[in-house]
Amino acid sequence: MNKKSSRLRRAGTACAVTLLVASNALGWGQEGHRVVATIAERHLTARARDRVRQILGSEGSLAAVSTWADEIRPSRPETAPWHYIDIPLDASAIDSARDCPNGDCLTAAITRFVAVLRDNASSPEVKNQALKFVVHFVADLHQPLHCADNHDRGGNETYVTFFGETANLHSVWDTLLIERIDPNPDSYAKRLDAALTDSNMSAYEEGTVADWVLESHAVAQKVAYGALPPGETSDLGIGYFRIAGPAIGLQLQKAGNRLAFLLNEALQ
Ligand code: ADE
Ligand code: ZN
Ligand code: ZN
Repeated sequence: MNKKSSRLRRAGTACAVTLLVASNALGWGQEGHRVVATIAERHLTARARDRVRQILGSEGSLAAVSTWADEIRPSRPETAPWHYIDIPLDASAIDSARDCPNGDCLTAAITRFVAVLRDNASSPEVKNQALKFVVHFVADLHQPLHCADNHDRGGNETYVTFFGETANLHSVWDTLLIERIDPNPDSYAKRLDAALTDSNMSAYEEGTVADWVLESHAVAQKVAYGALPPGETSDLGIGYFRIAGPAIGLQLQKAGNRLAFLLNEALQ
């Protein structure tokens, strides 16, 4: 490679890094959303698949629209609190007045947009946006740090080192863990989906959106924060990765399944 193309490549990499960092700040990174949408797509009924195609038109697949809610966030700031529910880390239940003021939180947003999908009277444009919000928020719900807060904005203000990289704990769970496990969303989704059995699938479909939020919050307690190295160490290391990796894989599997379950039920 000559010097110029190597310089261009470096500039390209710098751009890509900037884009990646910018997208990380917005929500569960691109890959997590694509993995969840890809798993869900594989579990839609023929009827729901048809309805999805009709609602999205030329916008394409669930995976293609899975990060739309992050892309519109700068121009629609009122949607920002819908991406998370800040349940205090040491709490064991949701307190709506505390965690979901004015219905502006993840749980309430999912419930509202699923109702729009179910309602035959919703206009095509409203339904289109509702579908894109549901696809995105069901994935966000399964990112434990979108359901828990330890006075650090869901880990955004807890600083760590992850395999030599300085990061905040939130971005480790949004992006870095997933990219380290498998940087290709399609292959990671296939692998997670192949490991799903009929019996764990029907078990994941039990419960309400609020139950799923509390389960995700428990993963924040036990793993995201609970498995942090003791003392002053902020270097997460391989020990943390060995515990957090399988935990995030399970969250992604559950998210994909539950998203399909909600859509199959709402889009009959
Ligand atoms: N901002 C405040 N709390 C947050 C959370 N738990 N996740 C993402 N962004 C947030
Ligand atoms: Zn989000
Ligand atoms: Zn996030």
